[in-house]
Amino acid sequence: MNVLIRGHHRHFRTVTFDAQRNAVVLIEQRRLPHRFATVATRDFRETAEAIQQMVVRGAPAIAAAAAYGLAQGVRAFRGRSSTTFARHLETVYQTLKSARPTAVDPVNAMDEVRTAMRTGADVAEQQSMALAAAEHFANASASQCEAIGQQGVKLIREGLRVLTHCNAGWLACVDFGTATAPLYAAQAAGRKFHVFCDETRPRSQGATLTAWELSQQGIPHHVIADNAAGHLMQRGEVDLVIVGSDRALGRTGEIANKIGTYTKAVLAHRHGIPFYVAIPLSTIDWQIKSGLAIPIEERDASEVLGAWGTITNPRTPGDRTKSGRHVYVRVADPASGARNPGFDVTPAELITGLITPVGIFKPTELWKQRRSLGWLA
Ligand code: MRU
Repeated sequence: MNVLIRGHHRHFRTVTFDAQRNAVVLIEQRRLPHRFATVATRDFRETAEAIQQMVVRGAPAIAAAAAYGLAQGVRAFRGRSSTTFARHLETVYQTLKSARPTAVDPVNAMDEVRTAMRTGADVAEQQSMALAAAEHFANASASQCEAIGQQGVKLIREGLRVLTHCNAGWLACVDFGTATAPLYAAQAAGRKFHVFCDETRPRSQGATLTAWELSQQGIPHHVIADNAAGHLMQRGEVDLVIVGSDRALGRTGEIANKIGTYTKAVLAHRHGIPFYVAIPLSTIDWQIKSGLAIPIEERDASEVLGAWGTITNPRTPGDRTKSGRHVYVRVADPASGARNPGFDVTPAELITGLITPVGIFKPTELWKQRRSLGWLA
């Protein structure tokens, strides 16, 4: 998507690879919307760290980062022994896999890269095949998100008021976004609509990332407190909900997404509002048989007990805190601890449809449609 930098629009992908430096290049998402910058990781451990620390986040984006991280790791290997190389590959794979556990996309992406590498005759060939496969994954992921836009655009009629949760935009993907792709396609078709962005505590991806993306794109929107959605729905001010997902179960139609998604689905059901989930094929898990078996990431308590922000103005006359400084402020009682589950699971019966690159399906249709959805027996 395009970013306005010093008056000029420039196209960026969230995740790319610099083959010369053997570096994964990422948009640094923790400083948005106040500062736009890219960072380059020097090795696969730094890439895993960037995923864990949420420099890059969002299921398809961390999938591309993991695929490139795998290529980065294997390209750094020096030597010709296939056995030592296989051991090194396993270390790289496990390090990247364990960075964040809920999204299945990084695992699916790295499995694709590993499978592609298998036909390489020797270490050198496997190293170059790894990068080609990672590039292929990233390009296919961007194309799938664009296709989600084409499938979902029919849902965004003139004057619609849409609610979204967290950031399932282009920053969460290689490009285009999942939940936002139909919005961008509708805007391109000349339709006018309004978006409510859930703030999405504790990391505030809705307030910081989705709202920024929509501003860049010129789409009218409001940030709302996470607790405000029920009120707006009750007053008839929300017509449709679209969210993304970190893991959609092909066998049951349940979806895991950012904590608070389940609450919004219950509210939407209560008020008869359609609730859609937009996913690329890498988000489908064909193995797990129950939502209760999805690993839910527990993050640090500090995320709940405080908040990050950027000082925009001195707070009081004479305050010497520098404008532009990124700071963490403690909000909760200093003696309190916190629980911080990062994701929750929405049951299939609360989901109106899944917007995929190949069509919109009811959650229970995923298994029947498994061949067109990329299931490999
Ligand atoms: O913790 P995050 O910011 O990685 O969580 C992101 C989400 O929950 C997104 O909705 C999900 O990854 C889908 S992104 C297209």
